[in-house]
Amino acid sequence: MSKVGKKRSSKKNLLNHSEAKVRLLGVYINKYLNIISNDGYSQKIRIYDLFCGEGVYDNGGYGSPVVLMKAVKDCYYSFLSRSKRIPKIDVLLNDLDESKVAKTKNFLTEKSLLNSDIAKVDFKSEDYKDLLKVTAKELASIKQEKAFVFIDPYEYKHIKVSHIKELMKNKKTEVLLWLPTQFMYRFETNGTPTALKDFIEEIVPYKDWNKSDNVWSFINQLREGFQSKLTELYVDTFTIQKDSSTVFCLFFFTSHIKGFEKMLEAKWDIDAEAGKGWHYSPQLGLFAGQETNKLAVELEEFMGSKERSNAEIFEFVLRLGFLPKHANEVFDSWQVDSKLEVILANGTRARKKSFYLNYKNYRDDPDKVSFKLK
Ligand SMILES: C[S@@+](CC[C@H](N)C(=O)[O-])C[C@H]1O[C@@H](n2cnc3c(N)ncnc32)[C@H](O)[C@@H]1O
Repeated sequence: MSKVGKKRSSKKNLLNHSEAKVRLLGVYINKYLNIISNDGYSQKIRIYDLFCGEGVYDNGGYGSPVVLMKAVKDCYYSFLSRSKRIPKIDVLLNDLDESKVAKTKNFLTEKSLLNSDIAKVDFKSEDYKDLLKVTAKELASIKQEKAFVFIDPYEYKHIKVSHIKELMKNKKTEVLLWLPTQFMYRFETNGTPTALKDFIEEIVPYKDWNKSDNVWSFINQLREGFQSKLTELYVDTFTIQKDSSTVFCLFFFTSHIKGFEKMLEAKWDIDAEAGKGWHYSPQLGLFAGQETNKLAVELEEFMGSKERSNAEIFEFVLRLGFLPKHANEVFDSWQVDSKLEVILANGTRARKKSFYLNYKNYRDDPDKVSFKLK
């Protein structure tokens, strides 16, 4: 197929990498809605899909607005069946292309996914840049509300770190950003165009940017760049490998460690092996052993000869992209090998296998136990 033909096909058909992208979106938004609806605090959830596209592709694949609205509907009925109510939900679906917005609206109607009892849905056809300002302003003043913003452009030139900062100022918003890292990386290796230089410059001074050996290191540099610019936030990536040389990436931003943990759970749900992405190859398990070792090695280095609290370990493990249950496994085996001491605040030994690595203890009892390597 010609390059133009390929491009057109990728825009008209939901390709594998996009399928993985919307699948992650679906897993995540399900978890998100359930948690926020149960937090006993939030009275409204706002969902923004700023580049929503046409809802359904020529090959029948669902786009982000359908995935989002299905999750909203499922959550509503699952709560209703338990005689519970979910908070009010407002959704904004936007795309510059009016015909795509109209197609989305028709499809959602056809699939009975527009129901004002469940959610108030607004459709807009505005330029992202303009909408962003309005949205950031709107979000700056929300109280007892939470917001989730999905940003899925064709081109990175639309996106600035400052946009994410603006949207997240209120500490109540989470952002999922899709960047075509594969193309960006290719450009980086072939005489970096100005648009990419400008994009990178905003994240890392261009003189400090190292030319990447491969797309993975490119993604990692971007992630570290985002993290160093947005120190108050938790940043992680979800990579989607289309084939051996093509990798795409979602970036996730949250100001709340619990939201971060949920995102990591969504990642691990999709790729139970490595938690670092969605692979199409059957050799999924290839790096599983290495990944587990990586956590043990990093934990050993972090702990060294110091005592570390449950809160410190909890945060450290999440920032590495692992879940508490993985750290529990490592600690468990260290305990069996008599390599680890776990001491309660009163100086006595904790019960075997009791590590208290969870959000509740992180928040309410951060020094419940301390860990020390023997
Ligand atoms: C990658 S597609 C979105 C796909 C969609 N999220 C899905 O899951 O099917 C990017 C969309 O951005 C829209 N777009 C391009 N420039 C835009 C702009 N400046 N503001 C808003 N939307 C724009 C395009 O019409 C296109 O539908």
